[in-house]
Amino acid sequence: MTKIERLGVIGGGQMGGGIAEVGARAGIDVIVCEVNAEAARAGRAKLWKSLNHAVQKGKLTEAERDETQSRLHFTTTLADLDDRHMVIEAIAEDEGLKLKLFAELDKVVADPEAILASNTSSIPIAKLAAATNRPQQVLGVHFFNPVPVLKLVELVPSLLTSEQTVERAATFATEQLGKETIRAKDRSGFIVNALLVPYLLSAIRMLEGGFASAEDIDKGMVLGCAHPMGPLRLSDLVGLDTLKAIADSLYAEYAEPTYAAPPLLQRMLDAGLKGKKSGKGFYTYD
Ligand code: CAA
Ligand code: NAD
Repeated sequence: MTKIERLGVIGGGQMGGGIAEVGARAGIDVIVCEVNAEAARAGRAKLWKSLNHAVQKGKLTEAERDETQSRLHFTTTLADLDDRHMVIEAIAEDEGLKLKLFAELDKVVADPEAILASNTSSIPIAKLAAATNRPQQVLGVHFFNPVPVLKLVELVPSLLTSEQTVERAATFATEQLGKETIRAKDRSGFIVNALLVPYLLSAIRMLEGGFASAEDIDKGMVLGCAHPMGPLRLSDLVGLDTLKAIADSLYAEYAEPTYAAPPLLQRMLDAGLKGKKSGKGFYTYD
């Protein structure tokens, strides 16, 4: 099994940026493909800030930072990913956009053995695979936010993914990136989001119903259950746009009330409140 030496990441937002960072820090050559030059510049600036922060914290030497930066390249041209051994898609959680992208990506990547992976939180992998002519090499490789900190990667083969592809992705995640993996069936939300998202939505319903303040709901779960952050702050971290899109996919799959997005979530998005990435959600950020 060939090692992944050349990685492509599509989307340089919070997840794509994090995946690119851990890949480059592991010695892999990474190209990040963004939608336009401004987004590429923003993604690069965030990544450079994160690497400088790691230097300040003593987790990386200046020389290691410079070497890591030399392995990170940015483009707005999908065709630049033609020589990649693996490409991980991390664009917005939008099925239509992802389907279009996988069809284009399939035409671009030359290596017939290359893995085409998605970091989707909830969209069925079989649908993405069906947009390509190599469904056996398509799978979900689902990282967690923030990627440099959280150890887990969920591996999600579709009904058509080959065992060799899953094993190669597992080796990449564990031996190259130092992550831990779990395997999930191709059901919306896989393991973690199928459990986590109804909890986050319940907290929003609790706030919406006037049961308690945001601060007390979060404090309850931090101090009462030892969670590192409460559900409303975590919703802000995930991104309220992403959370709504995940809830919609889960609801489309299961049609159960527990997955239905509460009206407050939609109203906040209508008001432009996307959580931490937009500066305001349930809380306000600098
Ligand atoms: N990049 C790199 N490192 C980061 C970071 C980032 N974005 N954010 C925090 N860190 C590091 C800090 O540098 C710090 O490192 P040291 O301990 O070595 O100093 C460490 O993480 C702790 O950070 P802080 O002290 O700033 O803050 P904290 O203790 O409150 O931790 C947190 C922040 C890591 C985000 C923690 O609160 C946490 O783990 N929260 C839960 C996150 C979670 O549940 N994520 C899953 C979301 S669901 C998902 O990802 C799936 C999906 O599909 C939606
Ligand atoms: P984000 O909004 O931070 O970033 C998405 C990025 O994709 C943006 O920078 C955007 O410019 C770029 N983009 C959009 N269309 C593109 C295209 N056609 N080509 C190239 N770039 C494009 O979103 P995110 O939080 O990084 O989420 C990305 C994916 O990861 C989603 O599928 C999401 O469900 C999943 N995910 C998110 C989290 C989370 O906590 N936010 C955790 C795990 C998985």
